[in-house]
Amino acid sequence: MFRSLVTGCGSYLPANVVTNAELAKRVATNDEWIRQRTGICQRHIAAEGEMTSDLGLAAAKEALAQAGVAPESIDLIVCATSTPDETFPATATRIQYALGITSGAAFDVQAVCSGFVYGLSVADNFLRVGQASKALVVGAETFSRILDWEDRSTCVLFGDGAGAVVLEAERPAAGANGTGRGVLSTHIYADGRHHDALYVDGGPSSTGSVGYLRMEGKEVFRHAVVRMAEAVDAALEANGLTPGDIDWLVPHQANIRIIESMGRRLNLPTDRVVVTVDRHANTSAASIPLALTEAVGDGRIQSGDLLLMEAMGGGFTWGSALVRW
Ligand code: ACO
Repeated sequence: MFRSLVTGCGSYLPANVVTNAELAKRVATNDEWIRQRTGICQRHIAAEGEMTSDLGLAAAKEALAQAGVAPESIDLIVCATSTPDETFPATATRIQYALGITSGAAFDVQAVCSGFVYGLSVADNFLRVGQASKALVVGAETFSRILDWEDRSTCVLFGDGAGAVVLEAERPAAGANGTGRGVLSTHIYADGRHHDALYVDGGPSSTGSVGYLRMEGKEVFRHAVVRMAEAVDAALEANGLTPGDIDWLVPHQANIRIIESMGRRLNLPTDRVVVTVDRHANTSAASIPLALTEAVGDGRIQSGDLLLMEAMGGGFTWGSALVRW
């Protein structure tokens, strides 16, 4: 079996920043409410004509440059998104085309806020069995396009952005099982009974229109804390590790209260939890690779560190990943 090494990461945020105060001019909200309930201070919003593939492409280019990998050697692109450019073809194929790649596989994975963990899991499994050797996993979203800008309970929570990682297959050295670098494990789950707690009220096969995001915030919050904790426990148990082994929590960035409760549960000091929700808001599938790229870029995450990623999203879907950097 091969092991997937993460050899590069990159991210992209649209230039346009919208503060809470600016949102308060559009809907009946205020900076204090948003900060206290969510930790969000601002979000980036894609410009008119700027599409999910544009964001994903910029992040992918940065990840490839950091990895020192030529685009043409990529034989798998997985794009995690719930806001594709078009119903079809996959946004991954647009990114593939823009990178000048004409071989290998490219497809989208749709697991909403768990999308990056799902995409990482899919790509990791392709590499493990030898069906691909170099993969790009992109999380890219333009949630601003599916928000009801008159619904204050949802429009204040999300932002646009993209992040990407390059995975390269390597045969782990003998005896390195569980201690070597790379993706140690991924655990992904779904329970479709909770569809109505978080969904978009449109689509090609239902209404024929794109629709808007609808959410029962309290219900999502309640499940997120429980489900992500279960996924984290599964990840640690599968690797014979304990919370004390984790160097960095790189969580999905939905709400500071959810993030902090997971940090407390793992007994991690707050400076070992990567937080971007204050500046990015919830960028769904893009939030983990955005946070990862920031913490790698500023030197917090160092080679050999153990990273725990966890996420939950509509479906419900949820999952975790352990990566030795
Ligand atoms: N500004 C001001 N007031 C608001 C706003 C707003 N933007 N939105 C709602 N309110 C009001 C409500 O109308 C309500 O008023 P009322 O008491 O007069 O009826 C009051 O604030 C409380 O509303 P709640 O919905 O009960 O607020 P809650 O404390 O549950 O916080 C929140 C809402 C922030 C959405 C929270 O439930 C949450 O974060 N849930 C998790 C959802 C999430 O993160 N989803 C992302 C996708 S899934 C994932 O990534 C995990």
